[in-house]
Amino acid sequence: MALLLLALLAHIALGLAATAARGSRSTCLKFSPSHIPGVSVTAKTYFPTNATVDISNIFSSINTTGLPAFCRVELVIVTNATAGSFAITEAWLPDEWNERMLTIGNGGFGGGVAVSDLGGTAIPQGFAGVSTNTGHNSSAVDGTWAGPHNDNAIVDWGWRAVHLSVLAGKEITEQYYRRSIKKSYYLGCSTGGRQGLKEIQLFPESFDGIVVGSPANWMTHLQPWSIHMNLNVLPATSPNFMTRDMWVNVIGPEVMRQCDELDGLKDGIINDPRACSFRPETLTCRPGQNTSTCLSANQINALHRIYADYYEADQTYVFGGYFPGGENAFFNGLVGSPPFALPADWFRFFLLNDTQWTMEDYNATDITLGDEINPGQSNAIDPDLTAFVAPPRNGKVLHYVGWADQLISPGNSIHYYETVHEFTLGNSTLDIDDFYRLFTVPGMNHCAGGQAANAFGGVSQPRPLSFDPEHNILAAMVQWVEEGIAPSTVIGVKYKNDDVAEGVQFTRPLCKYPSTVRFKGGDPNSAASFTCA
Ligand SMILES: *[C@@H]1O[C@H](CO)[C@@H](O)[C@H](O)[C@H]1NC(C)=O
Ligand SMILES: *[C@@H]1O[C@H](CO)[C@@H](O)[C@H](O)[C@H]1NC(C)=O
Ligand SMILES: *[C@@H]1O[C@H](CO)[C@@H](O)[C@H](O)[C@H]1NC(C)=O
Ligand SMILES: *[C@@H]1O[C@H](CO)[C@@H](O)[C@H](O)[C@H]1NC(C)=O
Ligand SMILES: *[C@@H]1O[C@H](CO)[C@@H](O)[C@H](O)[C@H]1NC(C)=O
Ligand SMILES: *[C@@H]1O[C@H](CO)[C@@H](O)[C@H](O)[C@H]1NC(C)=O
Ligand SMILES: *[C@@H]1O[C@H](CO)[C@@H](O)[C@H](O)[C@H]1NC(C)=O
Ligand SMILES: *[C@@H]1O[C@H](CO)[C@@H](O)[C@H](O)[C@H]1NC(C)=O
Repeated sequence: MALLLLALLAHIALGLAATAARGSRSTCLKFSPSHIPGVSVTAKTYFPTNATVDISNIFSSINTTGLPAFCRVELVIVTNATAGSFAITEAWLPDEWNERMLTIGNGGFGGGVAVSDLGGTAIPQGFAGVSTNTGHNSSAVDGTWAGPHNDNAIVDWGWRAVHLSVLAGKEITEQYYRRSIKKSYYLGCSTGGRQGLKEIQLFPESFDGIVVGSPANWMTHLQPWSIHMNLNVLPATSPNFMTRDMWVNVIGPEVMRQCDELDGLKDGIINDPRACSFRPETLTCRPGQNTSTCLSANQINALHRIYADYYEADQTYVFGGYFPGGENAFFNGLVGSPPFALPADWFRFFLLNDTQWTMEDYNATDITLGDEINPGQSNAIDPDLTAFVAPPRNGKVLHYVGWADQLISPGNSIHYYETVHEFTLGNSTLDIDDFYRLFTVPGMNHCAGGQAANAFGGVSQPRPLSFDPEHNILAAMVQWVEEGIAPSTVIGVKYKNDDVAEGVQFTRPLCKYPSTVRFKGGDPNSAASFTCA
């Protein structure tokens, strides 16, 4: 016992020594980094412990108190001197630094520093946090800034602004604390997932570990698929169209009736939608039935297409389909009216340079054209991660996706994982499980939300139950990189109404693909009642 205590004290003492690099108000206000080419500091602001942090931009905002003290350093980074293009990047540097850097990604076409995650994730866990506006200012769904022919802005969004921000962020952080960064991590979802994958594919030395959620990494197939999904039901006057009320009150409940209990628990969550072959025919309208409560033949056909993978006429795979279980969110995704605006902007301003383009103009030749042009080189689909994951780098990838994603088919996450898997087997002696793990989240919508254990340390989520590696996918990554302990599960939490203040509704393990979560019996609100099999 005494020995154990001694060992513990020694551990704590070492821990303190290791975290001695710190910042302060005076370090912050006096901070004047020596010349970094292309980078200028435009502002430094010190936020003492528990100060009001009320910062917003067009993409992200935070308004909170209760953060540990930090220094906010605002930068302008020249991305192409000839063109005069630049990105706005911020580094948030906590006084109590854990000697690690965390780069945080964006979402959609979002042109704004992810201040909400810098404050919500990086600062409370002691990371030096870095995030960029990707070279333009816009909301997540607005792509008008990309055209006409705004090539440098498109490339900045595609990969360049993140890369230059990682380089600048490392310099700034090391100069601020006068100490080298021990490890460099990445966290992002959606476009943020794409940005993380892109960076390790192009610049394997940038990170030691990346945590990516539902990546939009196959832009040239994701966008055609999105329009294909729109066209399955739109316009709203089409006989294929289904109202929000029908999705939520007719189709959703029938999916649950058919598939919810396949996993042994009736809880409105389909643990493994791959096991659910939803038959919409059961909802066929009887003669005289109110058509708001049942389906026509056109609607049934549309549903078959919506839940199916998308192939070209020659059977070339384009993209996955929706999985059963996310019906409450699908209307807000790609099958509602008006539809999610981003895909049409991609066609108008990134690919075709035709501001008048509408989804009715879509045809499958756009897939080939997209693959040829690959606007901004934004696809991040290289299955060869060797330079990042092999020694000496030994980089790690943790990837998560909600089975009820309404904006990017979860099939895309599985597809990318499997392409890496295949490449690894075919070309190396590495084992994918030693560097890349994919966790599926039953019931979770795009990056967050849904009837799901949807908080586990990812971006845009409520805070995890604890910052420990058991409940927090970022800490699980740190533990994998620094101690060699790979996560086999992460425990997610569902807060009542997704509001931390209202308390815990339930906890659940997230399972490593291809396993899925199974109910063992006991309290269905406790993660301990589940296993991965
Ligand atoms: C910050 O706020 C917390 C919670 O109210 C409190 O426990 C702590 O003492 C405060 N710290 C400082 C330095 O004000
Ligand atoms: C931030 O919160 C404070 C206190 O709740 C409020 O007074 C202030 O208006 C908020 N700021 C913004 C930009 O909404
Ligand atoms: C920089 O911008 C100029 C002017 O738009 C362009 O000609 C050049 O190709 C760009 N360079 C790079 C590396 O993107
Ligand atoms: C983005 O907004 C900032 C002000 O917040 C402005 O200084 C900058 O010029 C804008 N960037 C672009 C590319 O327009
Ligand atoms: C549209 O403009 C972008 C940016 O200049 C260019 O890369 C792309 O090739 C253009 N698309 C077509 C179809 O010409
Ligand atoms: C048909 O069903 C819808 C949805 O339940 C309801 O709002 C509507 O009043 C019904 N129409 C008739 C004519 O009963
Ligand atoms: C498909 O769309 C492209 C771009 O809008 C157009 O140039 C082409 O003519 C279309 N092809 C067919 C067969 O409609
Ligand atoms: C092995 O690598 C080559 C060259 O990159 C690639 O063409 C091939 O598809 C890979 N093999 C597998 C099984 O993925």
